[in-house]
Amino acid sequence: MLRATKFVSNMLLTVCIATGLLLAAGLATAQDAVADMSVEAELSKRVEAGRAVFENRRKGNCLSCHLVIGSELPGNAGPPLIGMQARWPDRKALKAQIYDPTIRNPDTIMPPYGLHRLLTAEELDVLVDYVLSL
Ligand code: HEC
Repeated sequence: MLRATKFVSNMLLTVCIATGLLLAAGLATAQDAVADMSVEAELSKRVEAGRAVFENRRKGNCLSCHLVIGSELPGNAGPPLIGMQARWPDRKALKAQIYDPTIRNPDTIMPPYGLHRLLTAEELDVLVDYVLSL
């Protein structure tokens, strides 16, 4: 009798532990999914903010020189911005190009947006997120 009770209580304990582990695992997966979603949502917000800086004529006014797919009446003094992630795998290098394009080409007509404080650090940062989405 005592043995049977002990067996049942051991079984119950095992079931409880297993259920607890399963619940914990489920919760962790759910938390990961929520974290992934919020990282994605945060990035898409930044890309939208960057697009606004890019298109705003009082900010980047980048469309006056660069075509991006879907843009209306872009200028063509600069190259089309396309396939950027593949062509600029190093985010820092891309940011440096926008911060001060004269480093790569002293005769460039592209304005040094960071060096001349045409854009703030935050504006430059979201702009890079947007350009990398092109
Ligand atoms: C007055 C015209 C002009 C404006 C405005 C301009 N650019 Fe440029 N940009 C150029 C030119 C010209 C080049 C070609 C490289 C060079 O001149 O050294 C270039 C090159 C680039 C490159 C490298 C291109 C590539 O295909 O690898 C990037 C990235 C870039 N520009 C981003 C921007 C962004 C972002 C803005 C707005 C904040 C901007 N440019 C505004 C003229 C411009």
